[in-house]
Amino acid sequence: MKTAIIMMGPPGAGKGTQARLLFETLGFAHISTGDMLRTAIKNETEDGNRAKSFIEAGLLVPDELVDSIVKERVRQPDCDRGLILDGYPRKLSQAETLQEILEQDDILAITIGLNIPDEVLIDRLGSRWMCPNCNRTFSKELSSGILKGLCDKCSVHLIHRVDDTEEVIAARLKIYHEETEPLVRYYHAQGIYIQIDGDQLPAKVFYAIRNVVEERRNLASVGK
Ligand code: AP5
Ligand code: MG
Repeated sequence: MKTAIIMMGPPGAGKGTQARLLFETLGFAHISTGDMLRTAIKNETEDGNRAKSFIEAGLLVPDELVDSIVKERVRQPDCDRGLILDGYPRKLSQAETLQEILEQDDILAITIGLNIPDEVLIDRLGSRWMCPNCNRTFSKELSSGILKGLCDKCSVHLIHRVDDTEEVIAARLKIYHEETEPLVRYYHAQGIYIQIDGDQLPAKVFYAIRNVVEERRNLASVGK
């Protein structure tokens, strides 16, 4: 059954890290609204120019911009195998838009909430490096790429994200708690929210996510 895995959790919870592992394992399309917006900014597109000031301030980009990016993206052929939504939805209005998209195609939704204390994610984001070419993230503890200052796939110099400053991290975290966290209740009420401890080794987090996804997909196929 066509499946959408919705990755939720605060900034730095590991949504992107786990979404990439899921992409490599399941072959589902990895849809990261943050990565798409950063690419648009880098390419100085109209969308990018509109999104820039919001991202730099740690604020949510207006719905109509993000919704249209996602609607366009889910029409691409690589989405036929399944979807991994990383950073979308981030508020109730976006969740309702996504619900319409998923219902139209009878797509099974599984929401994974990565749970992690604020102090751990502040520490992670403060020491995160990113490849501006492939958008992969690195941290001192987790990767050898960081030691050379280069992405080990693209050999491009790693950078810090503009929104990974102390002040902007605080703003993003505040918005997460105010706007995005209420979605936990929304998905919980639908019986499709699964919380996973994000404060363990990435491989362990991934193992837990894989198990949940397999279990839910098996259940859905039996119920068909
Ligand atoms: P976005 O890019 O989505 O940022 P975010 O939600 O703040 O999340 P991050 O990407 O910072 O963290 P992550 O959970 O992906 O963690 P990661 O895997 O990198 O959005 C950026 C901005 O775009 C928003 O502020 C907004 O302006 C705009 N935007 C995006 N979507 C939008 C939407 N739908 N609506 C409106 N605006 C939108 O991991 C973090 C670090 O920890 C890395 O260094 C990693 O190597 C390390 N790490 C990962 N897992 C582990 C682990 N298990 N143990 C130790 N370290 C780990
Ligand atoms: Mg991310």
